[in-house]
Amino acid sequence: MYNRVCGACHAGQLPNAPKRGDQAAWKPRLAQGMDTLVQHVTQGFKAMPPRGLCMDCSTEDYHAVIQLMVSEPGP
Ligand code: HEC
Repeated sequence: MYNRVCGACHAGQLPNAPKRGDQAAWKPRLAQGMDTLVQHVTQGFKAMPPRGLCMDCSTEDYHAVIQLMVSEPGP
């Protein structure tokens, strides 16, 4: 799912999108709490499009993929 949708913007292409595995970029966002982050993904947040452009992703999917983006660097 990350590779299919989120990676299009979260692998460093967009300067204001926190990059996968970039602890410094994610720290202040994580401080809002996981539930808030999932809500921001679902509803959209500034330049982040609603649902991250993934129409068939569930709340559980967002949880899992945010966890991945926060913890491991990758493509
Ligand atoms: C079209 C580009 C794009 C796609 C696709 C995208 N994002 Fe984002 N995302 C952004 C941008 C830009 C921001 C930074 C928003 C800001 O703070 O201005 C962002 C921010 C975020 C944040 C932080 C929100 C906050 O409250 O600080 C999370 C979490 C996130 N994205 C998760 C995801 C997930 C999960 C996916 C895939 C389902 C995804 N994004 C797909 C562009 C994208």
